Amino acid sequence: MVRDIEKILIDTGRIAERVRELGRRISDDLARDLGGDGTDASHGKLVLIPILTGSMVFVADLIRHLPLKLSLELVGVSSYPGKSVESKGVSIRSELPGNLQGKHILIVDDILDSGHTLDVLTRVIRERRPASLRTCVFLRKPGKASVDITPDYVGFDIPDEFVVGYGLDYDGYYRNFPAVATLRPEAR
Ligand code: IMP
Ligand code: MG
Repeated sequence: MVRDIEKILIDTGRIAERVRELGRRISDDLARDLGGDGTDASHGKLVLIPILTGSMVFVADLIRHLPLKLSLELVGVSSYPGKSVESKGVSIRSELPGNLQGKHILIVDDILDSGHTLDVLTRVIRERRPASLRTCVFLRKPGKASVDITPDYVGFDIPDEFVVGYGLDYDGYYRNFPAVATLRPEAR
């Protein structure tokens, strides 16, 4: 795996620091919404919806910086079937969580590229009439989004390069690489 890596764009130290900052900001905002310290009164009210599989590593780190009473509802979305690195439309692969009405929702994704994934998911979730709906992406490729969508929280803006690691894959691989990196051309 390591020999397929071309260059590290964001190292593990910067990732850890940024995730901690995001956690602090998100906790402050959500605790305010929940009207307290986010413990008793918030029972059942805060639901994180990580989008599989890319956000797995990010959300695992992020939730440990959210000292709030929350539950997780994973949603599977495919946008890049097979090896392709071009967006081919979005399909929701799993059932959506049951009752979201009146709840505070945070959708978490690995990267905002075309924006279609978040666009589709925020639409269907908004139809469920949550009390609030926020979005958080670990990475964003500025200027790439073909739909008008601005996440509430962004870890890092990156150049328009295909990246892997920290949950992001190429053809299902490299998700376990701990930093954000580009791949050597021979590996793609
Ligand atoms: P969007 O729907 O075009 O915003 O694409 C979002 C999804 O595409 C992400 O959840 C990733 O799975 C995938 N994706 C987009 N850019 C990259 C990349 O540079 N590396 C790995 N996956 C990517
Ligand atoms: Mg992917």
